[in-house]
This record gives sequence, C-alpha cells and structure tokens, in this order.
Amino acid sequence: MESEIMQIKVERVAKTRIHDVDFGNIPFGREFADHMFVADYADGKWGGFRIEPYGKMMYTPAMLGLHYGQTIFEGMKAYRNTSGEVMMFRPTDNFKRLNVSAERMCMPTIPVDLMMEALRELLKIDDAWVPTSTDSSLYIRPFMFATDEFLGVKPSDKYRCVMFTGPVGPYYTTPLKVMVEDTYTRAVKGGTGSAKSGGNYGGALYPTKLAQQKGYHQLLWTDAIEHKFIEESGTMNVMFQIEGSLVTPPTGDTILKGITRDSVLKLAADLGIDVQERRISIDELKSAYDNGQLLDAFGVGTAATIAPIELIGYKGVDLILPPIGQRKMSQLISKELTNIRYGKAVDKFGWMVSMN
Ligand code: COI
Repeated sequence: MESEIMQIKVERVAKTRIHDVDFGNIPFGREFADHMFVADYADGKWGGFRIEPYGKMMYTPAMLGLHYGQTIFEGMKAYRNTSGEVMMFRPTDNFKRLNVSAERMCMPTIPVDLMMEALRELLKIDDAWVPTSTDSSLYIRPFMFATDEFLGVKPSDKYRCVMFTGPVGPYYTTPLKVMVEDTYTRAVKGGTGSAKSGGNYGGALYPTKLAQQKGYHQLLWTDAIEHKFIEESGTMNVMFQIEGSLVTPPTGDTILKGITRDSVLKLAADLGIDVQERRISIDELKSAYDNGQLLDAFGVGTAATIAPIELIGYKGVDLILPPIGQRKMSQLISKELTNIRYGKAVDKFGWMVSMN
C-alpha cells in the first residue's frame, strides 16, 4: 500500500507527565508516555501523519471497529542499552506481522518503512520515557481499527492507526499456574487465531475467568477438534523442556507466530539445544511428567518475556513442575536474550535496531 510522502506534523505536550511515574516500580500497561503517532486511511491511502499528545480521542457510536471486530494490534519493546542508546528488538518483524493481521481482517496494510520512521520520531521525542533498568522497557503498542460511521457488516473504507508507548515492568510478576482448557476453544483451523486481532483476546476472557476462579492465572489452550494437543497460552506462546529437548507446538492457523518464540528457538539452537517444533499432546506431557522428564514449561512473548510456569492443571490434578531455580535451560536462554537486548552480549542475529 502506497503512503503519501511521509510528513509528520508534531504537536508537543505543554508539560511532561514523566515526573508522576515511579520508574523504580512500573506496573505493566498503566503508564503512558507523553506522545502518540496517528495516521488515517481514507480514499485508498494513508495520510494525516501526526505525533500529538497522548490522550482521549473522539469517536461516534456507529464507528465500525466498535461493532464487528476490525481491530488489530502489536506489542513491541524498546530497551536502553548499557551505552544509553535506545534499541528496538526486531521492530520490522512486528510491523510485518501487523500487516499479516491486517490482510486476514480485511484491513489495509501500512508500509513498514512508514511505521519505522514514525517510531523513530516518537522515540526521539519521548526518549526520556525509555527506562534504564534491565527489568523494564518501553512497551510500544501500534494498533489499527475501522473508523467508518456505518452499521452494515462490511470492511470499513476508513481506518486509523495509532502507536502509543509506555514504560513497563514485567507482565507476570509471579510464576504461572496454568490450566489445560479442554472445553472452550481459542482458535480453529481456518479461523483468525494467528492474527493479532482484538476478538481473539475478547473470546478468551470468559474461559480464562473460569480458570482464574479455580486459582489459575492463565489457560493452556488445546486444539479445537480433539482438545488433545497444546496450542498456546493466553498472552504468549508456550514451550516445554522434556529431558534435554526444547519442544514447542508449530505455528499455523491457530497459533500466533510469536517473535519472542522465534528468537528463543533460534537462541536455543545456537546454544546447542535440541529444538523440536512439533505437535505435543497432553498425554505426552502427562507421561513425561510421570516419568520425571518434564523439567520445565514457560511462556514466551513480548509482554510476558520468558514467564516460568509453576504448575499445569489438567482435569482437576496439578502437575507441579521442578522449582524455578533448577531450570537451567530456560534461565540460560532468558539471560542470553536479556543480554542481547540491553547490549551486554553480541547481537549475532542482528535483532537490535538503534533508534538514536
Ligand atoms: C504482547 O506480548 O505484547 C502482547 O501483545 C500480549 C498482550 C495481550 C499483552
């Protein structure tokens, strides 16, 4: 999709809000930086590029995106490395995935170079919002939604793309208790499960709430047909260590193509770990557990980073996994990834992009 010549109008805040933020204790998703990028799509092209103060936007009740689910989003992070530079982790992969979601949801794609330029401008203006500690980062949320004022079910003619940011700490602050979901379904072959569209998350809320009422944090989704094979967890892809191997379900129609997932697999292979992308059944997990071979389970995602799973609930029984301190493989991968992100290890995969 062609864009107009990129000219970003900038309106800065009269007064920064940064001094209201406690950077020593940043909750996930509650603090937002001063500015946001906005672009509008009309007449078959993107335009109206602007950076303006983060804040409320006005919409009519008949806005299509509020009714029929044409909303997609991404999550990405900027890190301040040991030299003080602001670095993004694989940003073009996120913008490409936004466009994959856009295609699936019948929305216009937005040029990756346009989004990169907007991100660069935004991060220059809000540079001070990128935290310095290695357990925090600046989360970036690009998203797009339908803006036609119309109640018919059809792809919108107009869209808005917004990108805002905010400093974040860990998404999960404790090891996770997950429950295998064998009644409800997140995604089915031919559906929208691999798109990062709002509806996938909305549909998961009710079954997740039921699991939370039983004391679990998240679900471990299974395939929609037999509820037999592991898919992903609520906000992240999922991986298991079975003896010396790292095993994860292959992505496809029903599983988000995680960028952290891909990075962990590449790092693990580079560290000499046997990596297996293959279907994994609950029965296999259960027998690996019974035989003492299930050594680790963890979620991987931009927000979740590498989130240890403490136990897996299945049909009323909790499989309690080895203590987190003993999980050498995931800890090694996590340390390597963190070191690359903060400039403490050589970025041999070329994942980090300087935004300065
Ligand atoms: C992310 O990992 O950035 C995500 O988009 C997951 C989100 C639902 C918190």
